[in-house]
Amino acid sequence: MVAQRIDGKVFAAGLREKIAGQVAALKDEHGITPGLAVVLVGDDPASQVYVASKGKQTVAAGMNSYEHRLPADAGQAELLALIGRLNADADVHGILVQLPLPAHIDEAEIINAIAVKKDVDGFTVANTGRLATGQRAMVPCTPLGCLMLLRDQLGDLSGKNAVVIGRSNIVGKPMAALLLADSATVTVAHSRTKDLPDVVRGADIVVAAVGRPQMIKGDWIKPGATVIDVGINRTDAGLVGDVDYDSVAQVAGAVTPVPGGVGPMTIACLLANTLTACCRANGLPDPEGLTL
Ligand code: GUN
Repeated sequence: MVAQRIDGKVFAAGLREKIAGQVAALKDEHGITPGLAVVLVGDDPASQVYVASKGKQTVAAGMNSYEHRLPADAGQAELLALIGRLNADADVHGILVQLPLPAHIDEAEIINAIAVKKDVDGFTVANTGRLATGQRAMVPCTPLGCLMLLRDQLGDLSGKNAVVIGRSNIVGKPMAALLLADSATVTVAHSRTKDLPDVVRGADIVVAAVGRPQMIKGDWIKPGATVIDVGINRTDAGLVGDVDYDSVAQVAGAVTPVPGGVGPMTIACLLANTLTACCRANGLPDPEGLTL
């Protein structure tokens, strides 16, 4: 039997539709329009594509998009001053600084300068700590999207064995925190993990976020497992994930494709977080169905 293909593209479109409806209602009932500021430093081509896509989808959802492009040699002080202005701007409900930043910039200092309530990426130390301790947080977009797909697929995750491959601050670590908060039994594997295939064989849930093209093979997978592929690797053969889709689909119960799986969920969750931040800033209840 071949695994079910989890269609993130369709799920994300539904999410964006829900968001647009709630944004329209917020305008009608309260005269408020959520605003997202995106800061891009330098001219990394992949980052430019992401930022353009974010801007387009923000506007399509009925929100205001503010783009700030700085040259690659912009200084720490200049960037901190910009963040300070965005923190003080009442029309800006969410701030995203596109990563990676140029090497001469202290990334941690920049991220932690973002007001916690406007940190729609959930990357500040404050939001990371809130997530880890079960307090109301802004949750990083990619892991949030993965969790939504997993809950939709499996319902209750309680007691499931989950293996997260990768320990980045953007995906692996917050993903592990979210799965743990849903009462899964969580293992975080990484490049130094011994006998990785054996570790993965015990998993009911696999989240692959290592950045190695097609590394995870079908014979690593427990029959019926749910596999979420966060990888986006550009190879000569085109865009591929961290999962070897064809062999994994022969064994898994369900698996996300690349492209069309997790990718579209990330920006949809960014829009969700921006709407959430806007509601909280205005003392309104959290938007329906967009938070955990
Ligand atoms: N670079 C790669 N992924 C991300 C992300 O989720 N947020 C930001 N700000 N930068 C990124």
